[in-house]
Amino acid sequence: MTKPIPFAGLTAQITELNPVRSIGRVSRVEGGVVHVSGLAGKARIGDLVVVYRQGEPLSGEVLQLDGDRLVLLPDQAPDGVALNDRAALLEARGIAPSDGWVGRVIDPFGNPLDGKPLLRGPDARGLRNPPPEPARRRAMGERLNTGMAVLNTLLPIVKGQRVGLFAGSGVGKSSLLGHLAQNMTADVVVIALIGERGRELRHFIEEVLGADGLKRAVVICATSDQSPLIRRRCAWAAMSVAEHFRDQGLSVLLLADSITRFAEAHREVAVASGEAPVLRGYPPSTAHLIMSLCERAGPGEGAQGDITGIFSVLVAGSDMEEPIADILRGVLDGHVILDRTIAERGRYPAIDVLRSVSRSLPGAATEAENNLITTTRRYLSIYDQNAMMIRAGLYSQGSDSDIDLAIQLWPDLDGYLAKAEKQSVANSFTQLELVMRRNQVPTRPNLPASRGRPNSAA
Ligand SMILES: Nc1ncnc2c1ncn2[C@@H]1O[C@H](COP(=O)(O)OP(=O)(O)O)[C@@H](O)[C@H]1O
Ligand SMILES: [Mg+2]
Repeated sequence: MTKPIPFAGLTAQITELNPVRSIGRVSRVEGGVVHVSGLAGKARIGDLVVVYRQGEPLSGEVLQLDGDRLVLLPDQAPDGVALNDRAALLEARGIAPSDGWVGRVIDPFGNPLDGKPLLRGPDARGLRNPPPEPARRRAMGERLNTGMAVLNTLLPIVKGQRVGLFAGSGVGKSSLLGHLAQNMTADVVVIALIGERGRELRHFIEEVLGADGLKRAVVICATSDQSPLIRRRCAWAAMSVAEHFRDQGLSVLLLADSITRFAEAHREVAVASGEAPVLRGYPPSTAHLIMSLCERAGPGEGAQGDITGIFSVLVAGSDMEEPIADILRGVLDGHVILDRTIAERGRYPAIDVLRSVSRSLPGAATEAENNLITTTRRYLSIYDQNAMMIRAGLYSQGSDSDIDLAIQLWPDLDGYLAKAEKQSVANSFTQLELVMRRNQVPTRPNLPASRGRPNSAA
């Protein structure tokens, strides 16, 4: 990280103070939005405006500009707002992250939520920045140690990879993200908690992430009771903070929980500004919204570092055709699916290996490792296809040697898939190899051990 310039943050904060405020008046209140006259010439889309209703401030974001009027979506219901109430324009389009934010919990505007003072950084950056130039962007990088056996071997995550984490509620998405925040290789972790309930948020920060996880993380959150504008802003703010660290050449891990809540917040905003929810319940701009966010994660260009992104998606049942899941899958380099039946029998992480895919394979692994992965998947699949018959006692041993082996291997593999593996990726493969050897599984074919070893962080 760059050495902090003494007082730079403070100086920036003072310079930004604007003694002159543009003031307008409320001219109309209708359907949850507030029309303000007298500010339209100075405001931009995305600016903040504060309406003083009986002296109490009510803030909101500029949604539309029309002649000399602007349309404001307030952060709370506009109860008590009267015609001619004063409205002040605040330019708060960006966010100014600072290296000192590591270890802190903040709101999407860069204000502290942990009760301690927080300085902003010297430079404000936009919330909706373009991704690095596609032609100049590096390819995905080296394999990262995730601290979890299954993600180290069968579903690897490499530097700059973007992965979706799909599951129903209560199947273990947040717990898995917490584990990655603590254990995965990264210089800085940026966590966006979008639209969680207040209680869940506290539980996540105190119990799941813990003091150790927080030490190297910036947590940006907006709870479910906050306005859709703030919830939507949370994802953008987190990405901007991640870009701040990436631009210093660091390897950033961005965890967003969840993209579904981000899309739902956008739907509320878009419907308030007149868009029709015609894309299976979502406004058409949702696809671009999600893609432009996720595209900002990924490998950097030149001296930049990388943003490895993990985005959680809430799917009802295991409906991967659900619109948000469907849109997201198109931009990702892999998806990890958590399964409720696996969670119910107590195996965590409840990853359904057969339905999950990492697009960094086969390049991320050596030939020998790829063989091991293929063999493992093959026997998991054989077991899966015959599971019903096996459990019902309809399969008689000896009918098929592959099924026999799959049955024998199953408890060992199931145990392996639950392993937290903190040492290294290489060690995770050794463990998997041991499982295979113990059960005398031929890891075909007999290739020279490791030709062209990939550049592995582990
Ligand atoms: N690794 C784990 N070990 C034991 N229980 C877990 C684990 N991960 C999740 N759980 C159980 O599942 C519940 C829901 O997990 P959570 O991560 O909050 O799910 P989600 O974010 O998908 O709603 C937890 O309260 C806990 O009981
Ligand atoms: Mg959760």
